[in-house]
Amino acid sequence: MAHKSVEAPYSGFGRRSTAEDVTAGLDLRGKTILLTGCTSGIGLETMKTLAKCGGHVIGVGRTQKKADMAWRSVSDSNMEGYVTPIGCELEDFGAVVDLAEKVRAMNMPIDTLICNAGILGRPKLEIIKGIEKQFAVNHLSHFILINQLLDQVKLSPQGRVIIVASDAHKNTPMGGIDFSNLSGGNGYSALKFYGQSKLANILTARKLAQHLSGTEATANALHPGFVRTNIFHNLPTFLNGPLKLLARPFMKSLSVGAATTCYLATSPKLVQISGQYFSNCNMANPSALGRNDALAQRLWETSENLVSDYLR
Ligand SMILES: NC(=O)c1ccc[n+]([C@@H]2O[C@H](COP(=O)([O-])OP(=O)(O)OC[C@H]3O[C@@H](n4cnc5c(N)ncnc54)[C@H](OP(=O)(O)O)[C@@H]3O)[C@@H](O)[C@H]2O)c1
Repeated sequence: MAHKSVEAPYSGFGRRSTAEDVTAGLDLRGKTILLTGCTSGIGLETMKTLAKCGGHVIGVGRTQKKADMAWRSVSDSNMEGYVTPIGCELEDFGAVVDLAEKVRAMNMPIDTLICNAGILGRPKLEIIKGIEKQFAVNHLSHFILINQLLDQVKLSPQGRVIIVASDAHKNTPMGGIDFSNLSGGNGYSALKFYGQSKLANILTARKLAQHLSGTEATANALHPGFVRTNIFHNLPTFLNGPLKLLARPFMKSLSVGAATTCYLATSPKLVQISGQYFSNCNMANPSALGRNDALAQRLWETSENLVSDYLR
């Protein structure tokens, strides 16, 4: 049984390190990595990097066609590993269960499950099955996927669940998770609900780490940084315009933005590290709410109730 320590050693990497830097010299042949959101941004770069190092990446995109296109875009002669592209619309919880069934049928351990797909919602409220869309896609769909595939992760000699969260989890003026308004019907702001969904990501990794205690598997969450990706396209024009013009020079490139995910996915230094939050390739402090075990427990139970029809 792994002893899970609370302090990760200094990685030797930092805010300018790239995905290539953190994976240099690593051989991922024989490792299977399932990654959601492989068709764009941080996910596409993560898939490219991990497959280049020899990993088998099960790349999940919104549709089979999009996943196929992403796979073709990263495949070249330098790639030591390979990609299995699969389509899954994460808004459709039944499709998430179908995805898990397909993956279980491959009959192989999952060494790393990377919950990366995410949206920053539109200014106008959107609801999926009675739940605000960002909470549904960013949190609940991954909550289902983790539940469905956890046995496969535990089959790996040292399985890892990695959840791409965000420092935006600190923007939760509703007191963390507003359980009385998960539909958004009693008041909605895209940025606040994005923050809430990202806090849910961190609390899920924290609670999952407790469930995995006594096994060899680990769970951690991360902030990738402020990265030049498509995620900002739903912002209103008055914010998106200045963001593109003024903030662009301060944003991370894709390769730097994917570094912390790739570090968590591959570093031998992290074998015993679980329940932590990372940024710039090192441990970081989430907000006090992100360390609140009572809130994590309540979120876990609420999520189980909300998606009970889709759990194993
Ligand atoms: N960029 C940043 O500055 C930043 C900062 C903090 C955290 N993050 C987090 O990083 C993660 C990756 O985001 P990104 O910045 O790389 O954004 P991105 O370029 O927009 O990529 C998001 C990925 O998630 C997929 N996705 C979204 N909704 C989906 C759905 N309903 N079903 C299936 N796939 C879906 C997208 O597919 P489509 O292309 O088909 O939409 C895309 O592949 C997210 O969890 C985000 O919250 C990003």
